[in-house]
Amino acid sequence: MKLIITGGAGYIGSHVVLEAIERGYDVTVFDDLSKGFKENIDPRAKFIFGSTCSENDLERLFDLNCYDGVIHLAASKAAGESMINPSKYNENNIIGGLKLINACVDNGVSLFVFSSSAAVYGTPNLVPIGEDHPTLPTNYYGFSKLVIENSLAWLGKLGKIRYASLRYFNVAGYDLNRRISVVEKNPQNLIPIIMENILDKELGINVFGDDYNTKDGTGIRDYIHVTDIAKAHVKSIEYLRNNYEDLVLNLGTGEGYSVLEIINKVKIISGINLNYEIIGRRAGDVDILVANVDKARKILDWETKHSNLENIITTTWDMYKRK
Ligand code: WQD
Repeated sequence: MKLIITGGAGYIGSHVVLEAIERGYDVTVFDDLSKGFKENIDPRAKFIFGSTCSENDLERLFDLNCYDGVIHLAASKAAGESMINPSKYNENNIIGGLKLINACVDNGVSLFVFSSSAAVYGTPNLVPIGEDHPTLPTNYYGFSKLVIENSLAWLGKLGKIRYASLRYFNVAGYDLNRRISVVEKNPQNLIPIIMENILDKELGINVFGDDYNTKDGTGIRDYIHVTDIAKAHVKSIEYLRNNYEDLVLNLGTGEGYSVLEIINKVKIISGINLNYEIIGRRAGDVDILVANVDKARKILDWETKHSNLENIITTTWDMYKRK
């Protein structure tokens, strides 16, 4: 299959490119390098510089080849930032996503795997969260993902596209075989922030609240290894090719860890004593976000083989200690 992978130079995207190449697919990475690194793109993939926000760039991309499918990861993904600068999420996530979808429909590319997020659920009224949970996002990032999910659902109904919307929980870790060389730029998530603090003590680790309704008062999240995420993308595009059924799937492990458990695990694996400060809650955070992943396991015949916490932290520390 000939695939476009938008955002393929990014943290998750570069791991998806690795998996797709390993499966023998012909991969074209489409990325504006605003967040990603060209060094992280598997050399066997083609690279086209461009943005989904530019119709000219999209026209250039689709004129180059006939593609069988698109895996769309190019987007902004910082929930906190989305509440301060929603216009950036309108441009990158909503307008960019809709322009890409239009280009796919206009060029007869019918298989579309979309990088969505658990942020579409908002505050869970039940955990673990199933795909049938109401989608009431509490931040603009989650809203921007839901807009694209809803557009895909309509185009699926109209027979224009076959799609899989993959709702990521907390993605972390790095490739076990060190095939990714550069760490994420300006990370916004807990585990890389802890690692950045080990390298630069000045940064400090802030724990956003210890008054949540959890075992130790700090937020609990479902951490899934990026390689398990990448494998689910390749399985999803293959499923769409072989079945006339659209998919909305949670990608998590079904297990949760608190902020303090993560900090303690990093201490043990790195052997470095970490200091942290408990400060107030961050706007938009919830107590617990853990996935029900029965649907993905069954439909994709997919298991999270890399997502034990030890491996997530070890592969991340391995990257940062080499930085
Ligand atoms: C995890 C936990 C924080 C930083 C994000 C985004 C989005 C989505 C899922 C894909 C929470 C706590 C964090 C810090 C802290 N991914 N924390 N101090 O908010 O669960 O969701 O990942 O779509 O990227 O929505 O991830 O890593 O920011 O926070 O105490 O400096 O760590 O309160 O409990 P989050 P996170």
